[in-house]
Amino acid sequence: MPIHSSPTGWVLETRNTAYAIGINEVGLLTHRYWGARLPFVDDYPAPFKTTNFASTDGPHHFVPEEYPGYAGTKYIDPCLKVIFADEVRDVVLVYEDFKVTASSSPTLDLRLKDSFYPLHVTLHYRIHEEYDLIERWVTLENLGDDPILVERVFSAKLTLPPGADYSLTHMYGSWSNEFQMQREALTPGLKVIESRSIISSHRANPWFAVDRNASEENGEVWFGTLAWSGNHKITAEVTEFASTRISIGLNDWDFAWKLMPKQPFVTPASISGYTQSGFGAASRIFHDYVRDEIIPHGKVLHKILYNSWEATLFSVDEASQSKLAEIAAQMGVELFVMDDGWFHGRNWDNAGLGDWWPDEIKFPNGLTGLIQNVNALGMDFGLWVEPEMVNPDSDLYRAHPDWVIHFPTRVRTESRNQLILNMARTDVQEYILSVLDKLLADHNIAFIKWDMNRGVSEPGWADAPGDQRELWVRYVQGVYHVWGTLRERHPNVIWQSCASGGGRADFGILQFADQIWTSDNTEATSRLRIQEGYSQFLPANTMEAWVTDWGKDTVPLEFRFHVSMCGSLGVGGNLLEWDQADRESAANCIRLYKDIRQVIQFGDQFRLISSQKNNFSAVQYLSKDKAEGVLFVFRTHIPERFNIPTIYLRGLEPDALYTVEGFDQPRSGKAWMEAGLTVELKNLQSKVLRISHT
Ligand code: GLA
Repeated sequence: MPIHSSPTGWVLETRNTAYAIGINEVGLLTHRYWGARLPFVDDYPAPFKTTNFASTDGPHHFVPEEYPGYAGTKYIDPCLKVIFADEVRDVVLVYEDFKVTASSSPTLDLRLKDSFYPLHVTLHYRIHEEYDLIERWVTLENLGDDPILVERVFSAKLTLPPGADYSLTHMYGSWSNEFQMQREALTPGLKVIESRSIISSHRANPWFAVDRNASEENGEVWFGTLAWSGNHKITAEVTEFASTRISIGLNDWDFAWKLMPKQPFVTPASISGYTQSGFGAASRIFHDYVRDEIIPHGKVLHKILYNSWEATLFSVDEASQSKLAEIAAQMGVELFVMDDGWFHGRNWDNAGLGDWWPDEIKFPNGLTGLIQNVNALGMDFGLWVEPEMVNPDSDLYRAHPDWVIHFPTRVRTESRNQLILNMARTDVQEYILSVLDKLLADHNIAFIKWDMNRGVSEPGWADAPGDQRELWVRYVQGVYHVWGTLRERHPNVIWQSCASGGGRADFGILQFADQIWTSDNTEATSRLRIQEGYSQFLPANTMEAWVTDWGKDTVPLEFRFHVSMCGSLGVGGNLLEWDQADRESAANCIRLYKDIRQVIQFGDQFRLISSQKNNFSAVQYLSKDKAEGVLFVFRTHIPERFNIPTIYLRGLEPDALYTVEGFDQPRSGKAWMEAGLTVELKNLQSKVLRISHT
């Protein structure tokens, strides 16, 4: 059993790591340890002692309380902040009892309660032993008669071993420039990473990694994420006593929750881990976990899709789409997706959203004819929707102007000419559910791209049942409810999460969607950088990557294909303009991808040379049995006389013999890893080299 408990202490062990908590001499639940697993349960340090230092600095600045409520002299960043009915704003949590539940992922529940008020707080820990991960979340319960206003409730505080010599890596970005990595020294004070736009956002991903001099392959990395698709917050705090802590949870900015008697509030889960093998290992742990435990179809190979968006934009109809489908099928594409423009009144982005039935002019006989054509070509059919949105110019908005998120006295800020339906409302949920359910029931649709193309504004909800600021959470719960119900009713459909590209890429949405549309930026050299950031916490099979015409005058088609083959390959160019040579070259790449996609989608990924830091980059995928691999090498733009770097392969069996395509001599795994190899490329050239066990 990986959970060891005594009346005053708990040790949670995974295959290689351990996390310990205990009650100290004054009854405070404190963090004890997070790091490598130790040989004996008694090896783990005792809880920190509460000693007073000075009247100006409370003990909490050096004693790491496991889940601090805002109270007393805690000037640190707390996990919980509430206002009781009598307006007392101070939560004094005392330990009550614990419960261990055995299962393949055992859980520990630590129950705390306020020393005076009827507020109960349960800290949940679920051990994912094989993945070296611990999942944490919190339940609040109001056992009294009066509501309690919750202003902040994080999912976890994660304390690092004493010291202030840490660096934080996080990701920032914008539309068309997602997943940009930033690594910086953590210094005294508070660093905040957050989303305020109602989705997990392009701006800041709900992911962090803290390290002590780690590299891609070596060194200690503590990492984590929040399984949540809305406003999130990660804070990294270094106190004046060199105590370094991370908090992770729902963003408390503009948030409040009226905790009603007998109606528990459950936070989203945080998932965190520790490794001594660098950032690469941290990523691979998450890749395995997402594929095995989160996404609905983790064992299904993704089909190569064609998406017509960049070819036809909103000008879709049966003839034009069927023509594109024919060419796509000839190239070896397996799934044809019609993007925006197919539904009632949708000729540009200023009308139609909300009216989810086929446009009568573009599709006078409905979608069935096109779907049959696509199926007759041997391909599955997929469709684009943006269910959470409405254009003011739509039948839906004309009938229900009150269904959008708004403040009655304020102008409703339109963005991309659209407003956001309030998915927290049950009537909105029912409407979306019924139209999408009908669409799926009436048509042979194998794939849906679910888009979300704007951030929130005027976040009002006049007839909210509780506090209006519950919107931030209830909206996301509404999206999950609708999506989850559709998934249950149509279990074979593969869903893709898109939010103007990669604006909603998180472990929360991946419970429903098998894929993420990584970025609207399909220019291959930018994509290399975006894809590397994406790979920090999400696996290649979830990363949809199309080959398009962006940069076609400078970047060869093969290079563009190779970049997209690093994930779940798709094609999105205007095939009508591709000449025969292009189509043949595409067909060859697609054939190759079909041979290697098993390794790319389900294997281990090694970032050999970073594309965010270099203009010559390499990434390797290796099957779990280490028998087969693929090496991708890219040279973007570097001076002609640049020394081509040596590439050191990773993960191979040291004593086994491997061949690498293009090299005559088989060598030991150790030789490929220690002596390496070089691949001569010119600017904007790339190579895919297969690796195989002889
Ligand atoms: C967003 C998506 C694109 C495309 C358009 C359609 O921008 O990211 O891929 O689907 O919407 O309007």
